Amino acid sequence: MSAVLQSVPAMAPMQAVEIDAVLAIEQQAYPFPWSRVNFSDSLNSGYSAWTCRMEGVLVGYAVMMLVLDEAHLLNVTVAPDWQRKGYGLLIMHHLFAVARLHGARRLFLEVRPSNASGKGLYGRLGFETIGRRRGYYPAGAGREDAVVMAVDL
Ligand SMILES: CC(C)(COP(=O)(O)OP(=O)(O)OC[C@H]1O[C@@H](n2cnc3c(N)ncnc32)[C@H](O)[C@@H]1OP(=O)(O)O)[C@@H](O)C(=O)NCCC(=O)NCCS
Repeated sequence: MSAVLQSVPAMAPMQAVEIDAVLAIEQQAYPFPWSRVNFSDSLNSGYSAWTCRMEGVLVGYAVMMLVLDEAHLLNVTVAPDWQRKGYGLLIMHHLFAVARLHGARRLFLEVRPSNASGKGLYGRLGFETIGRRRGYYPAGAGREDAVVMAVDL
């Protein structure tokens, strides 16, 4: 019987040499992107940082902080050309598995109320709103609140 080889997305720990490619996506995906230092500090701090590649092409990434039995999602991004194809869900399911393996029981995140794609993705995954942080994000005019969401793992 011959094996049928199919392309599958690959998750791997983010490496420092990938930060240029990650930053290129970050700057396309957000009006207020993370800086190079945000990513290098995350790697230096030992945060759970992952890339998602399809046939070698970087399509997305995520950064999560694990502390005792809690996980905190700091960044999840899919390159604009690759959005709405299921990679966001795939990356999030990977983070769920990693967080569970590290003993986390709950995953928290912040999202802008104006972020339809983020809220859509998190709602689909069962996240619930648990609070609001006033003026958490920079915005065009002043600041924007953050909606705080959480899901049991
Ligand atoms: C949020 C993000 C990571 C989602 O990634 P994605 O690969 O496009 O998401 P998926 O294709 O896996 O979509 C899964 C589900 O999320 C929801 N969703 C995704 N994009 C959406 C959008 N633009 N509007 C509403 N719901 C959306 C849908 O329920 C979708 O399922 P469906 O396509 O069957 O309707 C991506 O849009 C992104 O990188 N956005 C810019 C960065 C960002 O805002 N990140 C979140 C910061 S809090």
